[in-house]
Amino acid sequence: DKGNYKHFMAKEIHEQPEVLGHTLSRYLDYGAQSAKVAGADKIKFKDLSRLVISACGTAYLAGLVSKYWFEKYARLPVDIDIASEFRYRETPMSDKDSALFISQSGETADTLASLRYCKEQGAAIGAVVNVPESTIAREADVVFQTIAGPEIGVASTKAFTCQLTVLAALALQAGRERGVLSAEDEKKLVAELTEVPSLALKALASEQAIEKLSQTLSQATNALYLGRSTSFPLALEGALKLKELSYIHAEGYAAGELKHGPIALIDENIPVFVIAPYDRIFEKTVSNMQEVAARGGRIVLITDQKGAAESGNAAQDTVILPEMSDIVAPIIYALPVQMIAYHTAVFMGTDVDQPRNLAKSVTVE
Ligand code: M6R
Repeated sequence: DKGNYKHFMAKEIHEQPEVLGHTLSRYLDYGAQSAKVAGADKIKFKDLSRLVISACGTAYLAGLVSKYWFEKYARLPVDIDIASEFRYRETPMSDKDSALFISQSGETADTLASLRYCKEQGAAIGAVVNVPESTIAREADVVFQTIAGPEIGVASTKAFTCQLTVLAALALQAGRERGVLSAEDEKKLVAELTEVPSLALKALASEQAIEKLSQTLSQATNALYLGRSTSFPLALEGALKLKELSYIHAEGYAAGELKHGPIALIDENIPVFVIAPYDRIFEKTVSNMQEVAARGGRIVLITDQKGAAESGNAAQDTVILPEMSDIVAPIIYALPVQMIAYHTAVFMGTDVDQPRNLAKSVTVE
């Protein structure tokens, strides 16, 4: 049931404040102000030399965000790859490695094959899945379920942000178990994560502005998304969503890679989405943005008030989100990214919930 929404995707985007709240309460102990992930002991974070992560599509991009978290908050090296590559790569593994697989459906063929490879190698297997009775959930040693509820739209929206939420909690849990995250820092990060549902609600308030600029975007044939750090996977996610829903060709790049090739694409016809919360690397992203502006690129900056004030006049359009801490930013910035793809697709008149050539669950390789 779509309720009052035109599409399942719209409904699922708007469900995020609620389902993120459900997912947080499963994995955080609000009283103790700590991460509390049942079954995390199976992953043996304390003794790990490496965490291997594998998934497909948007689930892979959730994993890519978590690499920044595991490395920063838990000093845990992460090796992440898309499952279709990982499964044939014959990566060496030891009993000092554990593996994590991320999947909304829990049925994705390549992700399952990667899981089986790691299992054969003797690694402990964790799965972040939304469907608890799925094959991936059954074959894992431990399941960290996302409490997103059923996701009907082919585009992953609420499943993605719930995956990020589970992974953030896991990174804090790993940090504590590895003795690198102080109780004080954990408390602070948990308090920040607690803000996610209300921040998500505020992010949804940017929808009208996004709808307006999506109308212009729907005339473009190419688009570029840029970001650094955890905004880099979001740039990839923005491009993936736009492609799959509106059939507009889009690429996501790490902002620092711009001058290594993609800057040659810039002209006045290409919209460039810059995802840049005001953080420690904001200045770097802004200088890349100015390079785009100098070549006539049409910039849409997604940032906060501070970022907007510090960005000069390079952007034609700005989507303003509330100010927020580093750990929550990729979860919340996912929402405007989803809404841009959604509204552009609606303007294009494509089949939003069931884009051509795509299936919700990819059970063949
Ligand atoms: O069910 P899974 O999470 O394993 O699916 C993985 C991808 O097929 C999926 O995320 C796909 O990229 C989405 N359609 C993206 O919106």
